[in-house]
Amino acid sequence: MLSASLEQALNDQLHLEFESSYVYLSMSAWFEWKNMLGFAKWMNIQRDEEQFHASKFYHFILDRGGQVKLKSLAQPKWEWGNPIEVFEAALEHEMLVTRSIHALVDQAMAEKDHPGFTFLQWFVSEQVEEEATITAIIDQLKLVKDSQSGMFLMDKELGARTVAHPMP
Ligand SMILES: [Fe+2]
Ligand SMILES: [Fe+2]
Repeated sequence: MLSASLEQALNDQLHLEFESSYVYLSMSAWFEWKNMLGFAKWMNIQRDEEQFHASKFYHFILDRGGQVKLKSLAQPKWEWGNPIEVFEAALEHEMLVTRSIHALVDQAMAEKDHPGFTFLQWFVSEQVEEEATITAIIDQLKLVKDSQSGMFLMDKELGARTVAHPMP
């Protein structure tokens, strides 16, 4: 059985995953608006991944006898100056999520909640991947700079992304 405080913290994380999904949906819309359809598709798959993360927390809370308490979503930003700004905002957001996951791990450890600790390990690794992937895209965007052909190629490359996690 979950402690009341861990149930609350897991619900907060569930909420943050849904907010992440909303942030990426807004970024996907911005790219589609700019007719950068590969970037838009990449962001939409990122959105799906966040829905997948949210569903993992949702099921874990319920499997442990906790209650899911959904909250309203904050309005995401919808305007950026250029693609680098979008991905820098995405990286900043992922770093916030990483700090939140680490705080959850600390709490599970402090409470000796072994199932919670084990469940969260997947997210610890996932956050390393998330930050590395987005950092690599920022580095590529910096290399491409104002090259239209470079941006065209990156749009094609990012558009080739496929869904990694099937929705449960
Ligand atoms: Fe996530
Ligand atoms: Fe993420």
